[in-house]
Amino acid sequence: MHVLATELLYEGKAKKVYATEQADVVRVVYKDDATAFNGQKKGQIVGKGSINNQMSNLLFSYLESNGVATHFIEELSERETLVRKVEIVPIEVIVRNIAAGSFTKRLGVAEGTDLTEPLVEFCYKNDELGDPLITDDHAIVLHLATREELAALRRQALEIDRLLQAKFAECDLILVDFKLEFGRLADGTIVLADEISPDTCRLWDVHTRKKLDKDRFRQDLGDVEDAYQEVFARIRKGQSQ
Ligand code: TMP
Ligand code: ASP
Repeated sequence: MHVLATELLYEGKAKKVYATEQADVVRVVYKDDATAFNGQKKGQIVGKGSINNQMSNLLFSYLESNGVATHFIEELSERETLVRKVEIVPIEVIVRNIAAGSFTKRLGVAEGTDLTEPLVEFCYKNDELGDPLITDDHAIVLHLATREELAALRRQALEIDRLLQAKFAECDLILVDFKLEFGRLADGTIVLADEISPDTCRLWDVHTRKKLDKDRFRQDLGDVEDAYQEVFARIRKGQSQ
């Protein structure tokens, strides 16, 4: 596929998106830049862009082969991927299996508490507002999505949770929680977009419960690069078996 066009369409905190010669295809380039607390904490995680790109593609391919529609087309290089152009639904869909992060702070539940069933949360994707938690009714009134779309987001998120928990378990990793973003194709079809990586998932080692994700950066726990490399090595090894 020709990807000559180089017009920068969008630069986010962790990725750049470029146009291609095909109107419905864009090129995503992953950066090593890391932010936390809505951009207040800034840094770099060396090698992160390459790991997040390749890990995300591997997981998107796995989800596709299990019936989940995604934006993924083709990996171009360690840091670059072609994806279908979508209009991002401005809702961050979070799935939690174990209490951690904002859930523990907001609701006073101890970190590490098993949730009796997977919990789906919707947040309004709006940096200025700090991505606030919203109900279905907020999403409707704010015209973020229709009731049918919200039901589809929840259903898909739970299916993705089931598939990812199984995949990570093979790698001795616990999928504590994660964030998904979905996009609309030109015909309105909703597909999984963005990325699935240690930036967007909490992953703990099954034996030691060591945090192997972006919480090491958020909480200054050290060994950040090692954690990303460890997760990627385990996923890649699982893939080749
Ligand atoms: P939270 O506990 O801080 O709400 O995060 C829930 C999950 O979402 C966690 O796996 C990290 C991920 N996440 C993102 O991918 N982007 C974000 O901006 C935030 C706040 C969380
Ligand atoms: N992506 C978030 C930010 O806005 C941070 C996070 O992942 O905690 O900086």
